[in-house]
Amino acid sequence: MRGIDRQRGIYLRGVSGSKPRVPTDATKLEERADGQMSPEAFAYIAGGAGSGATMRANRAAFERRRILPRMLRDVSERDTSVELFGRRLASPFLLAPIGVSEMADPGADVAVARAAATEGVPMVISSQASKPMEEIAEALGDTPRWFQLYWSTEDELVASFAARAEACGCEAIVITLDTTLLGWRTHDLDLAYLPFLRGKGIAQYTSDPVFNRLVAEHGKGPAGGGGPADAAKPKPTPAAIATLLALRRAKVSRAQVQRFINIYSRPSLTWEHLAFLRERTKLPILLKGICDPADAQRAIDLGMDGIVVSNHGGRQVDGAVATLDALPGVVAAVEGRIPVLMDSGIRTGADMFKALALGATAVLLGRPWVYGLAIAGEAGVREVIQNFDADFDLTLGLSGCTSISEVDPSRLVAS
Ligand SMILES: Cc1cc2nc3c(=O)[nH]c(=O)nc-3n(C[C@H](O)[C@H](O)[C@H](O)COP(=O)(O)O)c2cc1C
Repeated sequence: MRGIDRQRGIYLRGVSGSKPRVPTDATKLEERADGQMSPEAFAYIAGGAGSGATMRANRAAFERRRILPRMLRDVSERDTSVELFGRRLASPFLLAPIGVSEMADPGADVAVARAAATEGVPMVISSQASKPMEEIAEALGDTPRWFQLYWSTEDELVASFAARAEACGCEAIVITLDTTLLGWRTHDLDLAYLPFLRGKGIAQYTSDPVFNRLVAEHGKGPAGGGGPADAAKPKPTPAAIATLLALRRAKVSRAQVQRFINIYSRPSLTWEHLAFLRERTKLPILLKGICDPADAQRAIDLGMDGIVVSNHGGRQVDGAVATLDALPGVVAAVEGRIPVLMDSGIRTGADMFKALALGATAVLLGRPWVYGLAIAGEAGVREVIQNFDADFDLTLGLSGCTSISEVDPSRLVAS
């Protein structure tokens, strides 16, 4: 079984004196990744909104629930698989969409895709990826991939992203709703660092024909175009010159960066807009960022196919509800009609067990895979996946369960 094999492998290698370079402990994993990245990169990845209250709440919600193990139930054979949109996943998790992974490793999303493919774990490709979705899809081979969409102010670009996603084999589109404005991210603000302004994490845009046409058309308009990014022409300091050189190395123009900043997200987005995408794709559409049961009901009314209960890992609303606390209400409202996934704060196999017990069909693994990427590139992501999977498999068995269907609310108690 996977859990036992992973565990034995680590102990056996220890006999020859070798220890895992990617820590199995979630806190140490983050600490080691910190040592591998620039302060700006670590702040961007690890940081949250405001005082960090939502990130703490996410973890506290897992701590407040405890697993009630049952004994003597023959757990020698365990089946961790689940069915999701017609696919059987070996284990109920996918890699969460995480942008700007080039800050952790130059191989970025392609390295992550290779790791996902080797481990057979589906990947959700980010709108803010560091590589074009077509390159990521190629590295994924036959491994399932979904595309995560940030809804631009330009509908034409939304349609182009969706069409490209379909063409490169994405099996679902995840619209992220909680980031129509960027949260007040104190770690990044204090370092005055936003990766997109340096041309990082905008590869989906710079590789898009509609986006590049919009850039060209904008250049022909009145000088500067008057958008917010145009107003902030950098002073010619050494730092500004270094940024310009970095843009040149990345083959990204200032015009592309400016256009991106002005159009990547649409604060005026409403429920009415969803019909635009619903009419244009046959792919399942999931809404990411839902925490309110009334929103979940509305998603179903509008023909959405799935929900991701998420608070963006505490990066958006400081003081937002923990996703594990929001999950039961959403699950109750959905009444099994569509799958409910969740993320934010999931670090261990026990966390995944608790999320499934409260009704999640599957979870998205977030920051831990980025930390693995920072520590050891593609191999590091593989190790994080293997550890998470093994931990879950063992937790399942040790809790007296042999399949996901046995993981229900009766397996949890409040601490
Ligand atoms: C550095 C970073 C970048 C992210 N980029 C995206 C993104 O491009 N699209 C998206 O929908 N969510 C994005 N997220 C949110 C994740 O998909 C996920 O909701 C979150 O990481 C879950 O929280 P956790 O990492 O604490 O478990 C990002 C999160 C982080 C940490």
